[in-house]
Amino acid sequence: MKKRIFALLLPLMMLFTLTACTESGQASNGSSTNNGSQQNSSTEKNDNSDTSDPTNSENITTNDSVNTDTENGSRILVAFFSRADENYGVGYIEKGNTHIIADMIAEEVGADSFEIVRVTPYPKEYDACTDEAKTEKNAGERPELTAKIEKFSDYDTVFLGYPNWWGDMPMPVYTFLESYDFSGKTVIPFCTHAGSGLSGTVNTLRSKLNGATVLDGLAVAGTTAQNDQDNARTAVLDWLEKLDIK
Ligand SMILES: Cc1cc2nc3c(=O)[nH]c(=O)nc-3n(C[C@H](O)[C@H](O)[C@H](O)COP(=O)(O)O)c2cc1C
Repeated sequence: MKKRIFALLLPLMMLFTLTACTESGQASNGSSTNNGSQQNSSTEKNDNSDTSDPTNSENITTNDSVNTDTENGSRILVAFFSRADENYGVGYIEKGNTHIIADMIAEEVGADSFEIVRVTPYPKEYDACTDEAKTEKNAGERPELTAKIEKFSDYDTVFLGYPNWWGDMPMPVYTFLESYDFSGKTVIPFCTHAGSGLSGTVNTLRSKLNGATVLDGLAVAGTTAQNDQDNARTAVLDWLEKLDIK
């Protein structure tokens, strides 16, 4: 029933997204947009692991094989939130849609990566997760995260990835943003979605991150990230080339 309501709302959300894209000057790419048609497939469930020491950097993967210093001396981080388990149009997945795109970006630019993980995992079932996320958003909660980056100041470019949740970023991303000083940093958003694109998130980031430069974002349909990775990678590479970040 909720899925049907969501499907009915999708055209409205897409209209809103179109406006938001125009406002933010978001990079557009044919393969990154979703035509709104959804499918349901079933695969195996994935367990979310729960770690509880928020002071360490255990969620960080350093990319030692590639020098993350660029010619102008920048160091690059890919920070992302992503959820596996039952998701929209893809059934139960082992690896979240945004996680897939985050790995492509990190690999391509030779960045370190950091997964933003909520201490209490969201429900594995899609409908239960949407309910909980909506309650959390309406209450403006800032859920606790499992880990913190000790040397955030080492990075001057941060790719920030998240799924579109209720036309916004998930609340754990807000916890992440409010945990660090972003002044002087370049922030490059990317999201996966089921038709809404980036919604107004680029503008939200621009007004929230004082002193940071927030570039135009990339939106990739979650179904493309999960099931059509050749096209997803093409969208990522085209976008990175336009950003001239490589
Ligand atoms: C709680 C929740 C809310 C969502 N809200 C939206 C939405 O407003 N617009 C949209 O296009 N997709 C929405 N989706 C779909 C996700 O954006 C999409 O499936 C995304 O690719 C999931 O990425 P992930 O696997 O990295 O978490 C929602 C999904 C969830 C779980």
